Amino acid sequence: MNWREMCFAPAAGTRLANLAELQEGRVREAMFGSGKDAFRLLLMREGDAVRVWLNRCPHFGIPLNNEPNRFVLLPERKIMCAFHCAVFRIDDGHCEDGPVKGDTLTPIEIQIDERGDILIAAEPT
Ligand code: FES
Repeated sequence: MNWREMCFAPAAGTRLANLAELQEGRVREAMFGSGKDAFRLLLMREGDAVRVWLNRCPHFGIPLNNEPNRFVLLPERKIMCAFHCAVFRIDDGHCEDGPVKGDTLTPIEIQIDERGDILIAAEPT
């Protein structure tokens, strides 16, 4: 699945947040559009880098959280789907336990500009 073809997917250059707005070790959600087709992202800062994943569990294709910006974080930088407990590593999106063990979250390519703004990266050519 190419996330760029999904409903409400943000275009290259769209600003997601600024580094200063992200708290180390916390997951923050960004959303484009609304309703069940909203395009939802997870952002997690680690120093001057940020991991961004599509907030869509590969099990049922729904967000990992059932309340806005509230996620089940586990030790060792893992996040658990609130619905059927799939456990994903935040560093590489790999699911290491639960009903979609071995699957992965979808990475979102970003770039960080000189002001610390986190932007959707251009599509690789
Ligand atoms: S929807 Fe995430 S584990 Fe089932």
